[in-house]
Amino acid sequence: MTRRIRKAVFPVAGLGTRFLPATKSIPKEMLTVVDRPVLQHVVDEAREAGIEHFIFVTGRNKAVIEDHFDIAYELEETLQKRGKLKEWQALKEDLPAAGATSFTRQQVPLGLGHAVWCARDIVGDEPFAVLLPDMVTMAAGQGRCLAQCVAAYEKHGGNIIAVEEVLADETHQYGVVSIGKDFGHTFEITGMVEKPPKGTALSNLIISGRYVLGPEIFAILEKGEKGAGGEIQLTDGMKALAKSQSFHGVRFDGKTYDCGAKLGFLAANIAFALTDPALAPLLRTELKKLTGEP
Ligand code: G1P
Repeated sequence: MTRRIRKAVFPVAGLGTRFLPATKSIPKEMLTVVDRPVLQHVVDEAREAGIEHFIFVTGRNKAVIEDHFDIAYELEETLQKRGKLKEWQALKEDLPAAGATSFTRQQVPLGLGHAVWCARDIVGDEPFAVLLPDMVTMAAGQGRCLAQCVAAYEKHGGNIIAVEEVLADETHQYGVVSIGKDFGHTFEITGMVEKPPKGTALSNLIISGRYVLGPEIFAILEKGEKGAGGEIQLTDGMKALAKSQSFHGVRFDGKTYDCGAKLGFLAANIAFALTDPALAPLLRTELKKLTGEP
């Protein structure tokens, strides 16, 4: 029997060194894809998948994230007074319900597995989702990535990992899974390796940053065993859990942008802008000018 996935963990303690100096005083999760912070896009995706409680594992210099998900009285009052009701309404729609957010700190950057473990008391004893904020997804039809993972969880139970196909020479940057019984959109996962050395990957399917996990993962992560890069890896924790529980992969039917890398971030900005009817035609003209296309 499956349970409803109500809570999601967002590990947002990362330093964002790849985006310096932009991220010197701004958390990388607050950089914008068009007019929404990267993190807002990811929270939107979680909401669409039915998530009701949003747990942010933050670190030092991330306080602005807490402000972003809170009411901004002065701003809202000014918008109302100036008759900017559309903008005011949009802010209200984005605001999570009172009490629907929790913030805890990772304190020391010991790895993704450790960051998720920091949310253990807030998650409690129920299955939950994890969304890595670097990865921004765009739906192709059947909802965004987490909604597809939750649907797969309702079908298969156990644990779910979203995957994405990449080129063979990119696999070493990610967690990689191997395929057992294949159902097409979903498949059984028979193995996982975090950051496999070049040429040794189990497949070209990488872990793309959306998970549905059983709370039993916390007891495993608690051991604090270190893996790739000397960090406590979530992938290693899941590998240990796979000895006693099922894991299924979801081939996300849509597009994932790795906004933790400059190219992915720029591509996401263009792709999302092209979905905006007001911006798209003008942007197309600008892009043609830049690329010299007729
Ligand atoms: C993390 C995970 C990895 C996953 C990746 C997706 O790695 O450990 O399994 O493939 O996110 O972005 P990181 O990007 O933190 O090195």
